[in-house]
Amino acid sequence: MRKLVTVIVLLNLFSTCTLQAEIQPQKLLCEYAVNPIGIDVLKPRLSWMLSSNPTDRNVIQIAYQVQVSIDKPVFNNSNMVWESGKIMSDQSVHIVYGGLQLESFKRYYWRIKYWDNKGRESKWSQPAYWEMGLLNKTDWTAQWIEAKIPLIPGVSNPCPYFRKEFNISKKVKSARLYITSRGLYEAYLNGGKIGNEIFTPGWTSYDKRIQYQTYDITDQIKQENNVVGVILGDGWYKGNISHRTDSFKNNTKLALLVQMNIEFTDGEMIRIVSDKSWKTSIGPIKMSDIYNGETYDARVELTGWNTSGYDESNWMGVDIKDYGYAVLVASSVVPVRKIKEMKPKEILTTPKGELVVDMGQNMVGWIRMNISVQRGDKIIITHAEVLDKEGNFYTTNLNSAKQKIEYTAKGDPLEIYEPHFTFQGFRYIKIEGFPGKPTLDNFTGIVIHSDVRQTGFFECSNAMINQLQSNIQWSQQGNFVDVPTDCPQRNERFGWTGDAQVFAATACFNFDCAAFYTKWLKDLKAEQLKSGSVTRIVPNVLGERRSGSTGWGDAAVIVPWTVYMKYGDKRILEEQYESMKNWILFLAQLADSDLIIRKGFHYGDWLFFIHPTDWNVKPGYTDVDLIATAFFYYSTGLVEKAAKILDKQEDLGYYQNLRATIKKSFKKEFVTANGRLSPNSQTAYVLALRFNLLDDEIIPRATRYLVRNIEERDYHLSTGFLGTPYLCHVLSDNGYPDVAMRLLLQKTYPSWLYPVSRGATTIWERWDGIKPDSSFEDPEMNSFNHYAYGSIGDWMYTNITGIRGKEIYPGYKQFIIDPYITDSLSYAKARFNSLYGTIKSEWTRDGDRVSLSVSVPVNTRATIHILTSETGSVTESGQPLSDVFKASGYHRSDSGYVLEVGSGDYNFQYTLH
Ligand code: BGC
Repeated sequence: MRKLVTVIVLLNLFSTCTLQAEIQPQKLLCEYAVNPIGIDVLKPRLSWMLSSNPTDRNVIQIAYQVQVSIDKPVFNNSNMVWESGKIMSDQSVHIVYGGLQLESFKRYYWRIKYWDNKGRESKWSQPAYWEMGLLNKTDWTAQWIEAKIPLIPGVSNPCPYFRKEFNISKKVKSARLYITSRGLYEAYLNGGKIGNEIFTPGWTSYDKRIQYQTYDITDQIKQENNVVGVILGDGWYKGNISHRTDSFKNNTKLALLVQMNIEFTDGEMIRIVSDKSWKTSIGPIKMSDIYNGETYDARVELTGWNTSGYDESNWMGVDIKDYGYAVLVASSVVPVRKIKEMKPKEILTTPKGELVVDMGQNMVGWIRMNISVQRGDKIIITHAEVLDKEGNFYTTNLNSAKQKIEYTAKGDPLEIYEPHFTFQGFRYIKIEGFPGKPTLDNFTGIVIHSDVRQTGFFECSNAMINQLQSNIQWSQQGNFVDVPTDCPQRNERFGWTGDAQVFAATACFNFDCAAFYTKWLKDLKAEQLKSGSVTRIVPNVLGERRSGSTGWGDAAVIVPWTVYMKYGDKRILEEQYESMKNWILFLAQLADSDLIIRKGFHYGDWLFFIHPTDWNVKPGYTDVDLIATAFFYYSTGLVEKAAKILDKQEDLGYYQNLRATIKKSFKKEFVTANGRLSPNSQTAYVLALRFNLLDDEIIPRATRYLVRNIEERDYHLSTGFLGTPYLCHVLSDNGYPDVAMRLLLQKTYPSWLYPVSRGATTIWERWDGIKPDSSFEDPEMNSFNHYAYGSIGDWMYTNITGIRGKEIYPGYKQFIIDPYITDSLSYAKARFNSLYGTIKSEWTRDGDRVSLSVSVPVNTRATIHILTSETGSVTESGQPLSDVFKASGYHRSDSGYVLEVGSGDYNFQYTLH
């Protein structure tokens, strides 16, 4: 017996060892999400990662097989809707589903296995799934309902509450809630919140697209009486959105659409839907508004309203509305959530005597109050980003946005309160009406944003640059509240196209933005005017005025291109192609016959440097004609590339000719034979160089003029929104990485580190939001949380740590590692989590000795540049290069070595000079 036990133990040990050696696909994603439900993509795309073992180098997938089954994770002939067979391919991201037509409400399970170039066949992956939402308008049987509560036009109305009680007498097998609203909703089932999403159904171009969300409520439904309850808020639909000109502002009620599909274990299916049997009331939320905050009277709370047995006899009925289902689309998976909690740093009393709490970080979200006060006590919290020169609370830069919470207490021993349909941009809060002295424990900061996954990490030996990186990431998060916004605090918070465009490349390093931008681009396309012109903000609530600005409208081309490059997402090009083309068509019609754009409205190089007092210091102004024509050329080139990728042969010639003519005219109009540009501004050189508008032979002279301009300003930039993202790139690409680095390290105004030196914790809208004399810039436009100038982040990743994509292998299937080992830093490290896995580039230097660590994910390849004038002394993990790269090949370049490597971790040691 003992022997037998030993044998079994040994056998077990043996099988564990063999298992460990086995490979299996990891991290299965469908449409960028883990097991999404309620999608309406008819041909979903599937991605996975290969098993990764850093000591196991040069691993490439050579084939894969996908199986998809309906209803059950059982993959046999009767269930399978797609069996791909063994496909010889190294593609492991965005495999397009190729099986039978997908059906509404059905769940599809999928699994994959792959073969690699080491002769291994992986195990099947664990099954993953996706579930379809409502694919046909006839799948909806719910009716739109509105509260029978009279509307007071022109002001914020109290939030309507809706409830419906229903009985479930049998065992539920599965239950789904499909829900949306005109306005924002917060839904409950039996007293508990449904899902952890907030600001649902999100902000879209509501008259063209309204998203619905799908929730799995199987576990929340009880086999007895149940109550579904929903609160609606104005949100972006009809709130005080500044200057809005759309039809939603007045005389429009909030409306709700709810459909619960419940399947019992005996196979019966029922639906609980919004209809005339629902009841409605108003409650404690007297006002809740995106800009203005919330007024809440806890004394009139509807205790128990969302649980069964509540007395609804005072509640009113609802009106049925015929809004139809034509604009309904499934939500595309990056909801806004509460992401983290912040403890306040200190409570202070300002010179004016205001009681102010400092959160220590400019953040976006709200304050949770945790208090014990008397019934009827009214506590008012206002939010501000900064204190003024004297140290007083400063809200002038919020313009008309009140950012104010008014809470009337009910007198419970402990009251915990968070607002509902509003968010604030703030670092400081002012407390009024608090009985006695509050403590730090009374307040918690709740940080909210679109729950995009962090994919980028950058750190170096300079603390101020690290603070800059932190500021960029905070500004990105704070301005990713369902749409990419300009700012989160004043009366704007719009999806400004220009801001989105300039920041997209940096954004896609820091966080996974694929689904986020995909949704926004659908709205951009939906808003596009007949002429092809693009509205200045998306979703558009400002009307058509000031549409078609170059640098802003170019978001229609640059953002999809960026998503394509970062994620290898060809579908975004397919889906946006018409929209991209239409933008070019619009510009071609706007341009004069020589294709120079001299007309139209253009924001230009927004917020370029102007010296506040000294008129002898040249401003950074660049003629709008030059900017407009340069962007026309650049976007035309990107559409031409998209046409090539999508094999639109018929379109190619048009774009090629267009581009050639624009370039010719551009040179004639703006460039002298000696490489000087008119206007002679930094942004002019930057755009011309970055967009390839200059002939090769004058590039060195043009670059020299740019550098001279920077030197004349004592190494300061003078660029605005449009020139800034490319400035350091152009310098690095043309032989002046040291000048780029000096600009980055510059601490005096105008520079990236000037705000850092003033204690900024987010990126400022203006280079001098707080001026050197501590006074403020024009309060009309002085946000302290505006990501546009954070676009330097892209240069930090791609140059300091040198992680660069290759255009012909988008999505980092192949990439470059070419770090700039500057003597201004002793180390720099970055990681980027691509769809294939983590790319890492980390270097440290000690004098001239450099150590560089690189990670290349499985199924990718990299070209690594080692900058050294030494021959022979370079080692990788202690071995001479020649030994390690015998097989894969390496060569010497003028400045060092260039290595072509496969997956794995590499550690190089070398001497720079
Ligand atoms: C916004 C921007 C935007 C600009 C357009 C501003 O008010 O905050 O960032 O791009 O207007 O000019």
